[in-house]
Amino acid sequence: MLGKLGFYIVNENIIEIQFENGVGKIEFINENIVNFFSPLKYEKHFSRAVEDLKKSKVDFHVINEKNCIEIESSILRIKVYDEFKVDIYDNKGNIICEDYKYKRKPFIRRGNGKIAEGEGIKVEENFRKHKIEIVKKMLGDEYFYGFGEKTGHLNKKGYYYEMWNTDDPKPHVENYTALYKSIPFFITKRNNLSFGIFFDNTFKTYFDMGKENSEYYYFAADDGNLDYYFIYGPSIKEVVIGYTELTGKTPLPQLWTLGYHQSRWSYSPKDRVMEIAKLFREKDIPCDVIHLDIDYMDGFRVFTWDKSAFENHKKMIKDLKNMGFKVVTIIDPGVKKDRGYKIYDDGLKNGYFATDKDGIPYVNEVWPGEALYPDFTDEKVRMWWSENQRIMMEDGIAGIWNDMNEPASFKGPLPDDVQFKNDGRPTNHLEVHNVYGHLMSKATYEGIKKYTNKRPFVITRACFAGTQKYSTIWTGDNHSFWEHLRMAVPMLLNLGLSGMAFSGTDVGGFQFDATGELLSRWVQLGCFTPLFRNHSCMHTRDQEPWAFDKQTEDINRKYIKLRYKLLPYIYDLMYQAEFYGLPVMRPLILHYENDINTFELNDQFLFGENILVAPVLEQGKNVRAVYLPEGRWVDYWTKQIHEGGKYILKEAPLDICPIFIKEGSVIPNYEEQNFVGEKPNNILIIDVYPGSGEYYHYKDDGESFDYRDGKYNLYKISMQIEKILRIDISKEHDGYTDYEKIIFKFNNYDGKVLINSKEYSVKNSILEISMN
Ligand code: GLC
Repeated sequence: MLGKLGFYIVNENIIEIQFENGVGKIEFINENIVNFFSPLKYEKHFSRAVEDLKKSKVDFHVINEKNCIEIESSILRIKVYDEFKVDIYDNKGNIICEDYKYKRKPFIRRGNGKIAEGEGIKVEENFRKHKIEIVKKMLGDEYFYGFGEKTGHLNKKGYYYEMWNTDDPKPHVENYTALYKSIPFFITKRNNLSFGIFFDNTFKTYFDMGKENSEYYYFAADDGNLDYYFIYGPSIKEVVIGYTELTGKTPLPQLWTLGYHQSRWSYSPKDRVMEIAKLFREKDIPCDVIHLDIDYMDGFRVFTWDKSAFENHKKMIKDLKNMGFKVVTIIDPGVKKDRGYKIYDDGLKNGYFATDKDGIPYVNEVWPGEALYPDFTDEKVRMWWSENQRIMMEDGIAGIWNDMNEPASFKGPLPDDVQFKNDGRPTNHLEVHNVYGHLMSKATYEGIKKYTNKRPFVITRACFAGTQKYSTIWTGDNHSFWEHLRMAVPMLLNLGLSGMAFSGTDVGGFQFDATGELLSRWVQLGCFTPLFRNHSCMHTRDQEPWAFDKQTEDINRKYIKLRYKLLPYIYDLMYQAEFYGLPVMRPLILHYENDINTFELNDQFLFGENILVAPVLEQGKNVRAVYLPEGRWVDYWTKQIHEGGKYILKEAPLDICPIFIKEGSVIPNYEEQNFVGEKPNNILIIDVYPGSGEYYHYKDDGESFDYRDGKYNLYKISMQIEKILRIDISKEHDGYTDYEKIIFKFNNYDGKVLINSKEYSVKNSILEISMN
């Protein structure tokens, strides 16, 4: 591509290399992150994912070798060859990542694919050539993670994926290469190290992780710049932290968003919504949020209400508020083509819609029939969309659900030449398709922030790298299949490793009819997914917690109540997501990366560092194998202590989701409540699993941005067990009201305990301490 290596110049952190046919730039973002860039389309970086990039000065020197240029910093050694091939070593000279220097050679596919196609069989392409292609040598010990929302297992070695936001309602199975979200980022884990690659390119991109040939893996794009970041760990944790430094962290959400959400396509009319709300309270099942799907609108016109089904909707929202419910409404991008409808008229008058190549607003079809697509790549349009959020916020809506923003279109895909303004660099659909939902979410986030001054709650279906700054996500239209319950675990884990700390699936499954057993198992998983929302498709059987039988209802109640108990722990994890970028749901490998048994665990995970969850994911199973990593683990239900580093068999009748707590953990709990805010949350219950450990607990007002001005408390809780159990609580940061009371609940412990050097005696495992 770039030809022979020529001379180089150094400018601050950048080494600019002149090749025969173009320029290659290598820039140190910091000691561990290096950007590789060639201006194949645009002179400079143009990123939708990386905003406000912080760079730090890195010392390095450059040596001209015979056939390469060598760049040496204190951590990395980079050798650059002809064709902008690069090999990266650590400072001891061990190879980390090597470019493949030969031609790609796909394995042979035998027989005539056309004949198979005759039967409707999907025949794989044999060789794809791309304008931009980076081919890395497979060194043999690789495991691959990340890639955002992909079907299949945790480790992506041997598979091929594409990044092209896709709304495909057919059952998502392993040969799907693309779904709703595009996150062109992956982590390579090798024996003693790991690194990430973030390919910052919004065109359609391609990732072959050794499927074409096990000697190499590659990432590629149809167009755009060659622009990728190499993020050195060496631990996976450091890679995730580095990646989220580039693309942004998931901000702390409002506390209620971590409660239980009930959704359906659609709760309508108003009386049905009120009935659902009453049933939650009557049946003593906590719930914070009811979602209104497309039928609340007047003819699917966004930012309107169907006045006959929702007569006096503001009163309904108020009544629900009095019962402790928040309302989230769906807003799709497609604006109905309809003269006299304000959003359409405004958009048309101001040129806010994407156009065809002759500048005529482009029309396709979505729920409202003929519809136009706001051009979110234009700052003016984003501002307009932000302002429109006011309409919903003034009605009392608490959050916005952005759907169909791949963008979806019922009359065939948007043609490649649909035109977008792209913030002053006019372009076509090919370049902006993957960031359409991302930019819509950004506009929504900014509007809600402006009109409420609270932490915005946005859910989006389509996203790009960096969307975590603006929105939570759900994994779109799954099915009420056991297979999809099983797939949810690796999918959410890889999303978490790809920066999306706040995510979830449609609990119970969207399409097809759930069974009571499936919903019971799904609610057990949902309890430990950051977004906990039951949602299902129109015309499927009812799927509310009580819609099956008493046993299913009891199991739903049990796990939704458990969720509310765990809220302060989950909130602590969200705090860690904002400050470090770590996900809430974590593959075991994130904390046990030297334990090979964790590398391919697809069916269990850590919820933060202290809770291990091994959900039952198969019909009819009432026992399962659980891998406990090193250390000692306490069975949450029986309190039995297990030595880690091995598999155990755990009995798991339908009402039991196997949960294990790491010895030495303290897990903060709240009292039981029906919704966030029902109780003042001024009592903290600390669930103690005696041992040695340290824990940080975070507290603030749960809704405003005041914490960014220091209005929060950070407690450090350390525990040691020698002759006597000793717990010390100190405040690392003191900026908010304290708890009035702390209740300690000891597991497997009675007797004397020292708390902040004062001796107490524990009886029946409980100890209450007033904070004043
Ligand atoms: C899409 C969404 C789904 C929603 C439906 C109707 O299929 O993915 O969640 O219920 O549209 O709005």
